[in-house]
Amino acid sequence: MIGKIKDLQPIIWDNPKKKPAAIALENFSLKYEDILDAEKRLQRFAPLIHKYFPETLDGIIESPFVELAGMKIDLEKSYGRKINGRLYGKCDNQLKIAGSIKARGGIYEVLKFAETIALNNQWITEKDNYEVLGEEKYRKRFSQYKIAVGSTGNLGLSIGIISATLGFEVTVHMSKDAKPWKKNLLRLKGVTVVEYLEDYGKAVEEGRKACMGDEKAHFIDDENSKDLFLGYSVAALRLKKDLERMKITVDEKHPLRVYLPCGVGGAPGGIAFGLKTIFKDFVECYYVEPTHAPCMLLGLITGKKEKLHIRDYGIDNITEADGLAVGRPSKMVSDLSETLIDGGYTLEDETLIRLMKTLYSIEKVKIEPSAAAGLLGPLLWEDSKVTTHIAWLTGGDLIPENEFKKLLER
Ligand SMILES: Cc1ncc(COP(=O)(O)O)c(C=O)c1O
Repeated sequence: MIGKIKDLQPIIWDNPKKKPAAIALENFSLKYEDILDAEKRLQRFAPLIHKYFPETLDGIIESPFVELAGMKIDLEKSYGRKINGRLYGKCDNQLKIAGSIKARGGIYEVLKFAETIALNNQWITEKDNYEVLGEEKYRKRFSQYKIAVGSTGNLGLSIGIISATLGFEVTVHMSKDAKPWKKNLLRLKGVTVVEYLEDYGKAVEEGRKACMGDEKAHFIDDENSKDLFLGYSVAALRLKKDLERMKITVDEKHPLRVYLPCGVGGAPGGIAFGLKTIFKDFVECYYVEPTHAPCMLLGLITGKKEKLHIRDYGIDNITEADGLAVGRPSKMVSDLSETLIDGGYTLEDETLIRLMKTLYSIEKVKIEPSAAAGLLGPLLWEDSKVTTHIAWLTGGDLIPENEFKKLLER
């Protein structure tokens, strides 16, 4: 399998070290109560979010959950295989404010930072209406604090937008993979963008350095942050509600399979943690990566995890899936995933773009190439049981029309 990965061939991998969810989660530092705590924090902020982003309606940033019946038929026809069960999309491409899965963790961590400052300085108590934190007086006070992050694009968008809204002085360190339109959008919102000619690892390193020794600076660490991770994990509580609303049963006879596009691992890891905590062994979680950026799967397969960089295997990290263009996986997520995750697969850029185009043609859902990765999953494993397949559609709503047109033409 390692040979195939080095040759940039797509792989399908079942995790031989997988353990029952209860055992895999036993020694992990975060628990169900931590997910609930994060959800409560987001609820406390709902009035403030509603004030600045009325498009969220109730101030809760959440995405639609939809059946992709036409896409399922097309996949079956194109690949000549039957999918046992229905196919759904969790449309994080339509998450309000930043249009991607990274909004879940990124916005949560900035809000938690703001709350900690406000509570420590006794500007508010947890019982107050947090809407007041949007007043000019508080924005001025927040402007004395700095926030920095390293990003391939989407995390930077979510952190940049929410930090600038609250008044923080925010810098986003962008890797060479970040699309120019993402940088431009951030600059328009008043965010400082620093560009690097190197990959994501360099952007993170520089962001971290810029905050060192400054007690009013907060570095958002995509590789290790528990707050980011918990922000993502709240998605599992929300998906549970989606499933209940659509009367979709999840039990031994009706398993759930979730296909999660993976970069450094924070977003898919946080969601897998949440889902396994709630649905235990009735849910299977798979990570999906481009053949040119398979760091998480390669790290798990070799056992080297975060000690590995894909360049050591001659892999170039050049992919149209900018959000997934990461060379070294998160230590925290690799350690957890080693026994938690069911498996994963890689796919070529051309497949990503074809899936993206098909989804748009059939379902009129606009996603970016990274976000299409999960759509192939339902075809790759034989299911003896009727299964609910969920492709996590992780981003794309903010792509400018001309950029999207270019991708469709390609
Ligand atoms: C659209 C999209 N999907 C998936 C991911 C993967 O998230 P993570 O890097 O936390 O694994 C990203 C990361 O930026 C992304 O932008």
